[in-house]
Amino acid sequence: MSKLRKRIIAGNWKMNKSVAESKDLAADIKRELADCREVDVVLCPPFTSLSVVADAVDNTQVKFGAQNMHWESDGAYTGEISANMLRSIYCHYVILGHSERRSYFGETDEIVNKKTKAALAGNLIPIVCIGETLEERSAQRHKEVVKTQLEGSLAGIDADEMKRVVLAYEPVWAIGTGEVATPEQAQEIHAFIRSVIAELANAEVAAGIRIQYGGSMKAANAAELLAQPDIDGGLIGGAALDARSFVELVRVAQSE
Ligand code: 13P
Repeated sequence: MSKLRKRIIAGNWKMNKSVAESKDLAADIKRELADCREVDVVLCPPFTSLSVVADAVDNTQVKFGAQNMHWESDGAYTGEISANMLRSIYCHYVILGHSERRSYFGETDEIVNKKTKAALAGNLIPIVCIGETLEERSAQRHKEVVKTQLEGSLAGIDADEMKRVVLAYEPVWAIGTGEVATPEQAQEIHAFIRSVIAELANAEVAAGIRIQYGGSMKAANAAELLAQPDIDGGLIGGAALDARSFVELVRVAQSE
């Protein structure tokens, strides 16, 4: 395991789980991982379940996060939630710029940038998502796409602040498809992402920043992905919806 970077496994529950189901899932995960110190474990339920998940993991090593937020602190923004509101329930993390938000809700790099700055200012750790579509990969444009997303999403964030960001590389073609990037494909782009961070900030920030892989990751394929030098964890969709499969995956990240 990398000495420099602590692994981080986050479950993105997306638009799944009622409040009662969330409570049970968080309780089941907590039972197994309450004392997990080797890996940062983060649960990201829908907004309606944040409070019950917060209660369930209170005073444990398991942290929780939101899946989105607005960049303003308050005001007339119907349907939105701010960093202050998330902090008021002791939320630590927020996923920003997920490909589903980019493609279904029109989030641009500029929007992701505003949200990332607001999250940092609000003392939240942003998990900033980037990744190319199948079309972009087929056209060999994946590096260019990811570089543009990084430059746009992280514009104007200084090196000190950037240290607190977590990145998630999620190739869109691997999300929810069962088609996982090969460890070599993922490592190549993670190393590239790190080199872009060195340009945007500096070598120290690049060496310290954590880059998760996301896209059909599960216990069965996690070991070979996490064995890659530049893969520091996972952002997990489907396999995070079941306590056993999520805990198994975290156990893989804890080992080695
Ligand atoms: P799956 O693990 O279901 O492919 O989802 C990945 C993802 O989008 C996590 O944010």
